[in-house]
Order: sequence, then structure tokens, then C-alpha cells
Amino acid sequence: MSITIDVNGTQHEVEGDPSMPLLYALRDQIGLRGAKFGCGLGQCGACTVIVDGRAVYSCLMPISALEGRAVTTTEGLLEDGEPGKVHRAFIEEQAAQCGYCIAGMVMRAQHLLERNPDPTDDQILDGMQTNLCRCGTHAAIIRAVKRAAR
Ligand code: FES
Repeated sequence: MSITIDVNGTQHEVEGDPSMPLLYALRDQIGLRGAKFGCGLGQCGACTVIVDGRAVYSCLMPISALEGRAVTTTEGLLEDGEPGKVHRAFIEEQAAQCGYCIAGMVMRAQHLLERNPDPTDDQILDGMQTNLCRCGTHAAIIRAVKRAAR
């Protein structure tokens, strides 16, 4: 199967089985390595991207579901090739330890802030609960989301 996917505003031709996860297409064919393979089961959030305004686990999203839809990855949040607002907030709060979860965290935070630009602490906790950090930097991640909201 060949399918054209809009990723960060650019059309990309992707080849593969219709059930191939978007994550594989992003990393192996399109060359965007921000989204990570963590569990492959929709449980960790390391692969989070935004599709048509919804945060999704790209490890579970088949490419066959993406014709005509717009995908945004962490690379799509860059501003003139430099870290974007949410990236900067995560850097300034030193929210990464090993960093493996961070691209997914950034996308989940972006999604949260698009829907709620001024979230309370409880709303941040609720909005970020789908993403795991095994290093345990959750407190810094929450500060980063609050900083990004300023
Ligand atoms: Fe997709 Fe863990 S790799 S949720």
C-alpha cells in the first residue's frame, strides 16, 4: 500500500502494510525520530503525536487511517529550526533526565495547552497522565507545562 501523509505541513509518500503503525513510518521512512518506541502497546506515551488536533499513540495508529489527515510531531513545533515554546519550557525546567519520554511529553503538553491555555495543577496532572517517565521527573515536567502556559 502507498499512502500520502501530511506530516508537519509536508506531504510524504509512505509504503507498507495498511496496518503498519504511523510510528514506524515516521521514524523509518520519513526520517523524523522525535517520536519514540517505548512499549508499542499504547501504554507509555513515548510515541505521542497529534493527528487532526487529537493526541494519539502513533504506535497504535495504522497508516491506513491517515489519508487526508494532518500529523504534527515534535519536529513540527520547532520555530525556525530552534526549540519551540513548549520545548523551551521543558529545557528551562530541566524536565528531561534520560530524555526518552520527552518528545511524547512535549506533544501531550502541546495538546493540553491547545485545549486549555491556562491549566490548573490538577488539569495538568490529569492531562499528562497518559505519558510515563521512568526516571521520575514528573514534578519538573509539570513545572515545564506550567511555564509553557505563561
Ligand atoms: Fe506507543 Fe508506548 S510506544 S504508547
